[in-house]
Amino acid sequence: MTKRDKQDTGSTMSTGAPAPSDRHSLTIGPNGPILLHDVHFLEQMAHFNREKVPERQPHAKGGGAYGVFETTEDVSKYTKAALFQKGEKTDLLIRFSTVAGEQGSPDTWRDVRGFSLKFYTRQGNYDLVGNNTPIFFVRDPMKFPHFIRSQKRLPDSGLRDNHMQWDFWTANPESAHQVTYLMGPRGLPRTWRHMNGYGSHTFMWINEDGERFWVKYHFHTEQGMEFFSNAEAMDMAGSDADFHRRDLFDAIARGDHPKWVLSVQVMPYEDAKSYCFNPFDLTKVWPHADYPLIRVGVMTLNRNPENFFAEIEQAAFSPGNVVPGIGLSPDKMLLGRAFAYNDAQRRRIGTNFHQLPVNQPKVPVNTYMFDGHMTYHHSGAQPVYAPNSGDRTWADETGRMEDGWEADGEMVRSAYTLRADDDDFGQPGTMVREVFSDAERDGLVDTVAGSLLGGVRSPVLERAIDYWKSIDADVGRRIEEKVRKGGAPEPAPGMSES
Ligand code: HEM
Repeated sequence: MTKRDKQDTGSTMSTGAPAPSDRHSLTIGPNGPILLHDVHFLEQMAHFNREKVPERQPHAKGGGAYGVFETTEDVSKYTKAALFQKGEKTDLLIRFSTVAGEQGSPDTWRDVRGFSLKFYTRQGNYDLVGNNTPIFFVRDPMKFPHFIRSQKRLPDSGLRDNHMQWDFWTANPESAHQVTYLMGPRGLPRTWRHMNGYGSHTFMWINEDGERFWVKYHFHTEQGMEFFSNAEAMDMAGSDADFHRRDLFDAIARGDHPKWVLSVQVMPYEDAKSYCFNPFDLTKVWPHADYPLIRVGVMTLNRNPENFFAEIEQAAFSPGNVVPGIGLSPDKMLLGRAFAYNDAQRRRIGTNFHQLPVNQPKVPVNTYMFDGHMTYHHSGAQPVYAPNSGDRTWADETGRMEDGWEADGEMVRSAYTLRADDDDFGQPGTMVREVFSDAERDGLVDTVAGSLLGGVRSPVLERAIDYWKSIDADVGRRIEEKVRKGGAPEPAPGMSES
């Protein structure tokens, strides 16, 4: 048997035929030129040139695992979704991430963390693409690309820039709640296992009788919340940039399977019309006194991916992927997101990204979307159009959408209508005064002052101090004192100082 006949253990080409050599290219004599018909060599080089896909814009750096969600409580009076019926166990995929950092950036830089879930339910895939915070920086999707650009890099130097970040935040005061979260202890989770996850938006649940409810999702970590200090996070960024990715993978590999309890807050459909603030505003949380947590079930992560690229890099989540019994809401951010993700994935992964094993539903797919690059799924000799006289039917929903809501009025470009308690600084102020401990408040002052001293210039610096005084007068004053002591100049004459 020659070397070329050996196919059982040796490496092969992508055709499955034996590979001639993985270390020597084909040349004329040992020192001669390489020959163009060394197909194996050419294929290696060509594939190498194509073996990355564009990174996610944003949430590029992350990691993930598989798990299972078990509904342990009866919440059928709120939703008919199969995955939330008591006793149901649903396989899932989770991906954690940072927002602003690119692939390869340190896991422990201060940032919001992504918390993306794909439930492979009996009714098709349901995705919940949330964060480790229950709120967000802006409330109109038109601002989202601007927000992300301000957190990324300067066009000339390609550097991250505190001035640009604070410029955006302070010019958009609705960011105050999320910025307070970010600058507080939760901006530095110790591991992904030690942080909570939130659906953040308000979603709709619909029960068997067609009754509608508004819900917010809370995943509370069973591992307990743990955070890094600024110094610990900085050290870790230098010594192990992949610390969070490694921690999750190692924990699951050693059988230490992390768990989260899912609870929801439920608001009766009609309450939303008259609640004291806009319950669809993504910069607000709902007080638990008004809408207490209702336990739903437990999520356990129990299996690592076998191939990071195939299963995590090519994973495609979208807040628009819902199943019967669950709907969106009038939150403009959520509605903007319903378009953005699949579109990003068509570009990032390819037209048929949903056919890859990690994205495939575990139920039959009967779509009239055909062909395109890398088509894998097909259903045989079925009609490719609807209506048709074959046995493939067409969908034909008419009448009121069960997961819809009333909308009326002129088309406008406008902020949400303000209600009595709709203000930007109330909830972050309460968080600073009533949720943070003294030590956490001290940490917040240090972190913000440190960030402002990292290159934030007038007039953004003065705006930032005003912003913090609006959140909490005392915290704002302490930040100002530290910033001035740290060498920031006094405001220029005429600049607001109040
Ligand atoms: C209008 C506002 C938003 C837009 C246009 C937007 C857009 C995007 C896009 C294009 C991606 C990359 C998707 C991909 O390539 O697969 C992404 C990722 C992500 N976004 Fe958003 N986003 C918005 C707001 C939010 C909000 C409010 C949250 C959380 C509550 C969020 C959480 C995430 C997460 C967790 C990921 C990573 C998904 C993954 O793990 O693959 N985004 N976003």
